[in-house]
Amino acid sequence: MLEFREVAPPEPAPGQALVEVAAAGVNYIDTYHRSGLYPVPLPFIPGSEGAGTVRAVGEGVSEVAVGDRVAWTGVLGSYAEQAVVPADRLVPLPDGVTAEDAAAALLQGMTAHYLATSTYAIQPGDWALVHAAAGGVGLLLTQIAKLRGGHVLGTVSTPDKAKLARETGADEIASYDDFAQRARDLTGGEGFPVVYDGVGRTTFDASLDALRIRGMMVLFGASSGPVPPFDLQVLNAKGGLFITRPSLAHYTRDRAELLGRAEELFGWIRDGRVKVHLGGRYPLADAARAHEDLQGRRTTGKLLLLP
Ligand SMILES: NC(=O)c1ccc[n+]([C@@H]2O[C@H](COP(=O)([O-])OP(=O)(O)OC[C@H]3O[C@@H](n4cnc5c(N)ncnc54)[C@H](OP(=O)(O)O)[C@@H]3O)[C@@H](O)[C@H]2O)c1
Repeated sequence: MLEFREVAPPEPAPGQALVEVAAAGVNYIDTYHRSGLYPVPLPFIPGSEGAGTVRAVGEGVSEVAVGDRVAWTGVLGSYAEQAVVPADRLVPLPDGVTAEDAAAALLQGMTAHYLATSTYAIQPGDWALVHAAAGGVGLLLTQIAKLRGGHVLGTVSTPDKAKLARETGADEIASYDDFAQRARDLTGGEGFPVVYDGVGRTTFDASLDALRIRGMMVLFGASSGPVPPFDLQVLNAKGGLFITRPSLAHYTRDRAELLGRAEELFGWIRDGRVKVHLGGRYPLADAARAHEDLQGRRTTGKLLLLP
């Protein structure tokens, strides 16, 4: 259950900063924390991403100062008016990037960044399959894949989502029933070098069928539910496929990697090369409704909670 409650204001411990939250990003992982798919000790304040202004710092903090505009991800507690965050997880916001942009883009945008530049680095001319192409990660991943010279086949569930995904750069759109065949048709029967699959249970098997020999299956989420245990021999039968199940934490391992990805992402946003699509702004008290809309497949792009 997700409930709006008054709690005592937090205080920054050594190494932490107290941030006044301007906007909190809603992410699918928040629903996994809420449902218990990813267990968290109860009760807890959800929210893995936010942006705002530093109001106080604990002992020994050198990364940020009072008054700095910052954003963060990977630390629980952003569904709040104030949050305490380890200072080494805070990313300074450059001029030209608003707190709303940052809260909307840091988690999903750095995810799209590592997927397209590191997990499988898209090369000019590559076809990539992007599931849920009108979703938060999907729209950003599509744009970054295109920036790198790739082609995108996106899956979506409705005509409106198809229109949005196309307008954002997807070259082709498929339904969840025919995407593997479409991938083969688009490549003369060969299949794609990479599939980015954040949908999970309902798409996993057909995603493997969309890949070429030695293609890379990047399973990065479970919006339809987790993929059940899997027979590795299938990877042989389907063409020596590669498979990985990455998380953002694996691709922001130290502060240099965190700041490097954030800097490139914010640069693209500031220059207009990557656009953030806000699909909904909700008052903080309506966080439960935001989760219902996200899990009900009624949303596009990014949802924000505004304290
Ligand atoms: N590993 C990582 O580092 C990482 C980081 C961020 C996000 N993720 C994962 O990426 C995925 C996308 O996250 P997001 O926050 O950007 O969410 P999102 O894509 O905006 O929302 C989920 C979308 O998934 C699609 N979907 C397909 N089957 C569904 C089902 N049975 N139930 C609900 N949705 C379904 C829906 O789009 P259609 O209606 O078009 O099908 C829905 O809008 C999630 O699985 C998330 O956990 C992983």
